[in-house]
Amino acid sequence: MATSTFVGRSAPSDDKRWRQVDVRMRRLGYRPDGLIEVLHTTQEVFGYLDDDALSYVGESLGVPPSKVYGVATFYSHFTLKPQGLHTCVVCTGTACYINGASALLAAISKELGVQPGATTPDGRVSVLKARCLGACSMAPAVVIDGEVHGHAVPARLVDVLEKL
Ligand code: FES
Repeated sequence: MATSTFVGRSAPSDDKRWRQVDVRMRRLGYRPDGLIEVLHTTQEVFGYLDDDALSYVGESLGVPPSKVYGVATFYSHFTLKPQGLHTCVVCTGTACYINGASALLAAISKELGVQPGATTPDGRVSVLKARCLGACSMAPAVVIDGEVHGHAVPARLVDVLEKL
């Protein structure tokens, strides 16, 4: 039976970034019409939207999966989970930007030949940007395959990515 009361579903993982998504949903009163805004927040903190994120947001807001996927694929602003074997999300939030995020992206572009939002030609690494990964004290921060790498340095980052 349909109900308008949110009964609470736990986040897909204990990744702290889900808290930012939860806060956004709470502020919007878990209203279905907050879908685009919540997807926007989710993409900002994770860099992309994967199946877990879409179903979590959809269930929390009471929006059917077809609608959630419809919205996520209709707007070119949204990026679904990248196809690369590995994922590298470079934070370009204020703290990371000030501490050299652009140099990280420039090094990735030069050495791996890939721009944010794209995957290396060999399909190994997808590179994405996020606004704040919630690790500002370690700026510039990068998340590689779900693991946060703080105080990232261009040469070392490229090295890590090349060894994946
Ligand atoms: S601004 Fe990069 S982690 Fe917060």
